[in-house]
Amino acid sequence: MKTTVATVRQQKKDGDKITMLTAYDYSTAKLMDEAGIDMILVGDSLGMVMLGYEDTLSVTMEDMLHHTRAVCRGTKNAMVVGDMPFMSYQASVYDAVVNAGRFIKETGCNAVKLEGGAAVCPQIKAITEAGIPVMAHLGLTPQSVNAFGGFKVQGKSEEAARKLVDDAKAIQEAGAFAVVLECIPSKLAKLISETIQIPTIGIGAGAGCDGQVLVYQDMLALFSDFKPKFVKHFADVGSAMKEGFEGYIREVKEGTFPAEEHSFKIADDIIEKLY
Ligand code: KIV
Repeated sequence: MKTTVATVRQQKKDGDKITMLTAYDYSTAKLMDEAGIDMILVGDSLGMVMLGYEDTLSVTMEDMLHHTRAVCRGTKNAMVVGDMPFMSYQASVYDAVVNAGRFIKETGCNAVKLEGGAAVCPQIKAITEAGIPVMAHLGLTPQSVNAFGGFKVQGKSEEAARKLVDDAKAIQEAGAFAVVLECIPSKLAKLISETIQIPTIGIGAGAGCDGQVLVYQDMLALFSDFKPKFVKHFADVGSAMKEGFEGYIREVKEGTFPAEEHSFKIADDIIEKLY
């Protein structure tokens, strides 16, 4: 059964935790979908984990559309959320609606995500009114890394915490169907989750959220540049891949790969005529 905005709304009511992971390609999305994930986010984190940038700011609409299309081709049941890249929605409500529309028309994804609180409520309202579900994103919003002065936990002072609660209420009022809470104290995330009616999806925001999201390269130990405190390695796929690559290199050098079973046959009399 396809996950929809109605499904996740019901999951919050039932206390059924919502699961979300990022994916950026067909094969990974297919595996996640078969595993039963509720939502797949094609995050602009692809700038860091797929393309090797230092942050997400260089990611373009074309990058996002390309990867979102691949994920949609691999997904049957999960809701696919396309992440709106830096400067695809900040400058104007018009840009926001046009670019959100491109995600839906050109990729087949089911919703879009954008970062920010009260400041982007006009965009959330206009996109929602165009019939496109919007997931909001509060706390450590990586597209504002330069304004934050680095990737830091947000909402620790009374003023900052109050602003996050107000922003959460504002994005709900503007029509967002869910919100990612990134890198904020667990107790504050729990309070926000209890205050608003729409589902909260946490990353570095503790167990009190209505769901969780992780970047898949982080949770499979595929990304080794750094490991944020909130990441748990659910499998060491990075080591398994490295072992596989080493085995391949060894066997090709030794001449043990390819073996008979990996090779194609031709009748000897045909080959002899060619010599
Ligand atoms: O881009 C991304 O992957 C995200 C998640 C970390 C929520 O925004």
